[in-house]
Amino acid sequence: MEYKNLLVKREALLAWVLINRPDKLNALNAETIKELYAAFLALREDENVRCVILTGSGEKAFVAGADIGELAGLGQADGKDYVLEGQELTKLIETFPKPVIAAVNGFALGGGTELAMACHVRIASENAKMGQPEVKLGLIPGFGGTQRLPRLVGKGRALELILSGKIIGAQEALDIGLVDKIVPPGGLEQACRALAEDMAGNAPLALAYAIRAVNEGLDKPLAEGLLLEAELFGNACSTEDSKEGTRAFLEKRKALFQGK
Ligand code: COA
Repeated sequence: MEYKNLLVKREALLAWVLINRPDKLNALNAETIKELYAAFLALREDENVRCVILTGSGEKAFVAGADIGELAGLGQADGKDYVLEGQELTKLIETFPKPVIAAVNGFALGGGTELAMACHVRIASENAKMGQPEVKLGLIPGFGGTQRLPRLVGKGRALELILSGKIIGAQEALDIGLVDKIVPPGGLEQACRALAEDMAGNAPLALAYAIRAVNEGLDKPLAEGLLLEAELFGNACSTEDSKEGTRAFLEKRKALFQGK
């Protein structure tokens, strides 16, 4: 499929999704949000894709936020609708049944930090700059920032970032758990590819069940989360891939997973 604001590249079992508005620092306008939604739906159905890497085109930005030009004209009702659409995208990514890695290059502000937080893992370049500066525009985060940031870094740190609107560097983002790893700028692509290839070599249904167990379990009391884990473990046991994976270990060979 052709997109106006995205590039989707395939590499064996991996797909790279690049937000491609570098002259606007990859700001998320409504059209880009719709295209991202369509691209992730298509990648979800494509059984040859086992891991997705989301990043921004150019050297300067992952995503410098929602498109401020579009935000400027919003009122109560359309403001709510606007963010609900962005939230649908972040939910689609968060619940994606295949691993999604954010390759955070340069500015990831507002909607950029929110998009990265919806991904399963965040690897950032040392030049990454992250934050939720919406209050500086008289707004608040709307694509999940007030909800996912405290879950990721704790309430106090989240409120510090959201209320100050300050922008932090990669090291601080790593220190508070907003990103999972930082690498030199020239090494970002390869670090993401290496992790994605590792993940893509694992059993696809097991990956999907693990993502579900973590996502849904976090919203439940521990006892219910453990029950969910047991249920999904049972599901995994009933897959052909679990037979193949355990047999391959015992036969001292590499498992060949079919996603069945
Ligand atoms: N929405 C729309 N356009 C944006 C944008 C956004 N969130 N962020 C950057 N752009 C545009 C700029 O308007 C500029 O466009 P122009 O060349 O047509 O004037 C272009 O991207 C380059 O940005 P510029 O501000 O010139 O780059 P810079 O290096 O001087 O500053 C930032 C970089 C990220 C500090 C600055 O662009 C910025 O503060 N962006 C907004 C960040 C933000 O508040 N995001 C949250 C939105 S809810």
